[in-house]
Amino acid sequence: MIKRYSFDDVKRWKRDGAVVLKNLFTLEEIKTVHDDIAVVFQGKKGSTPIIKKHSGPPETVAEQFLNFENIPFDCSSALNLIGVHQQLISLAREALGTKYVRLYQSQAWAKFAGETDFEQSFHCDYGNHTLTVPSNDVTKNSITFLMYFSDVTEMHGPTHYVTRSDSNKISKSSEIFLNHSDNKKLQKLLSKYEKSTAGPAGTVFAYGIDVFHRATNITLNRGYRFAVTSCFKKAGNDSIGYTAWPYHQNKPWNIIFENASPEQLNCFGVPMPGDSFWTDDALKLASLRYPNWNMKEYERKAKK
Ligand SMILES: [Fe+2]
Repeated sequence: MIKRYSFDDVKRWKRDGAVVLKNLFTLEEIKTVHDDIAVVFQGKKGSTPIIKKHSGPPETVAEQFLNFENIPFDCSSALNLIGVHQQLISLAREALGTKYVRLYQSQAWAKFAGETDFEQSFHCDYGNHTLTVPSNDVTKNSITFLMYFSDVTEMHGPTHYVTRSDSNKISKSSEIFLNHSDNKKLQKLLSKYEKSTAGPAGTVFAYGIDVFHRATNITLNRGYRFAVTSCFKKAGNDSIGYTAWPYHQNKPWNIIFENASPEQLNCFGVPMPGDSFWTDDALKLASLRYPNWNMKEYERKAKK
């Protein structure tokens, strides 16, 4: 595989906890995922933006996540597998310093003007990715990819962020965030370093769970933003979690099994070909569960 990201991108993610990447996907991949998201959210359209007057720091509200759903979906394999795209797996491995990564979240996320005011305050995501706090060792945390599949200008609600290197310049920023002692002041200090992830469809924002960021509002008439999230952790890292894939057993997993490589399936926790899990019984039963799954490689390696 030819990498579509650089050594410097990985270095910056490790140092700053945040990097914006523009060339990971082909135009064809971007278009197909865009069209899949339109199918998933049934052709919804944006209307007149809702722009609220915020007297203090804006709050995160449930309406900002109206169209935020787990894979798999009943659409093509493009959206179902974009979260485990080979470029993302490769980048996640380098970022987390391991050969073995697990996908623990992948959701389609559409925002439409007129649904709500999407403006948020700066926050870190670790609250619903771990029960404790982020480690100083970034490889013990995780990497989130927020990927845009529609063009995102400042009027389409791009995520804004502050690099770890910049937020570290603010005394006790992590402590203030947790104890809410002076949130208003923290927001003001962070905003001095605020950067945008705006970019054309295909733009990917890779960030850590300890990185301050916030959603911004869609202010364009009939504007919309199509995105997909994808979060990876090191295999065996029990301190990080979000989605238990088998809990969503009634979703169309066959689309994933019938189209993914063993390496992509392994990101969901499916043992690799050659793993001792694949006994004759396991192979037989799995082929009954997913009749159209091509298990040749699993069978071949089991016979060795
Ligand atoms: Fe967030």
